[in-house]
Amino acid sequence: MAEPSNVLKVWTSRSGKEVLIRKAGPADASRTLPYQRSILTETEYFIKLPEEVTQNLEQEAERIRGHAEDPAQLFLLAETEGRLVGHLRFEPKKLQRISHSGEFGISIVPDFRDQGLGRVILELFLEWAVKAPGIKKVCLEVNAGNERAIRLYERFGFEREGYLKKSVSDCKGGWTDTVLMAKWVKD
Ligand SMILES: CC(C)(COP(=O)(O)OP(=O)(O)OC[C@H]1O[C@@H](n2cnc3c(N)ncnc32)[C@H](O)[C@@H]1OP(=O)(O)O)[C@@H](O)C(=O)NCCC(=O)NCCS
Repeated sequence: MAEPSNVLKVWTSRSGKEVLIRKAGPADASRTLPYQRSILTETEYFIKLPEEVTQNLEQEAERIRGHAEDPAQLFLLAETEGRLVGHLRFEPKKLQRISHSGEFGISIVPDFRDQGLGRVILELFLEWAVKAPGIKKVCLEVNAGNERAIRLYERFGFEREGYLKKSVSDCKGGWTDTVLMAKWVKD
């Protein structure tokens, strides 16, 4: 059961399902691990392969605890009827001179895409980032072919800062480029 203080928003899907968007806690580890493996299996745009999710339950719970206890980290989950349907994770860079920035990743399960959930989660994330101590710049890396995600980020004012050419193997003998995007959230 989610702590009420961890619930950021209740959003209703096209089919009328109530989706709770909330901060993750260590007890979610038993669901975030299978979630990650399954999303990596069905989405071609992530660089990690499902078999590269190697942390065990305890390590995942520990990582989530770290997110929950650090005001400069965020791990958001979208959940409906006990099922995880979305995920956003942000971590600041560790070295002092670059710790004003950090990287996030977002995903929505296929049957909840294109309904506005990604937009709502990103909105909550940016509201959080404006207040997060020390965080000034939020960054991401996106596959150059992932037009849906790039359009979403641009709508929120993220700018393209660079390209990494042929940076990711498509595992079929080809290569794809990566776009580096970022948004300055406060001075
Ligand atoms: C990218 C992703 C997070 C977006 O979430 P979503 O819930 O599907 O997106 P939304 O429904 O909130 O749409 C937000 C914006 O995306 C764009 N968009 C949505 N569906 C689109 C489509 N099929 N094609 C192109 N753009 C699209 C639109 O600009 C939309 O804004 P609008 O409603 O003002 O038109 C989600 O689709 C996803 O998890 N994809 C697979 C994993 C992934 O690519 N993650 C990002 C890695 S960097």
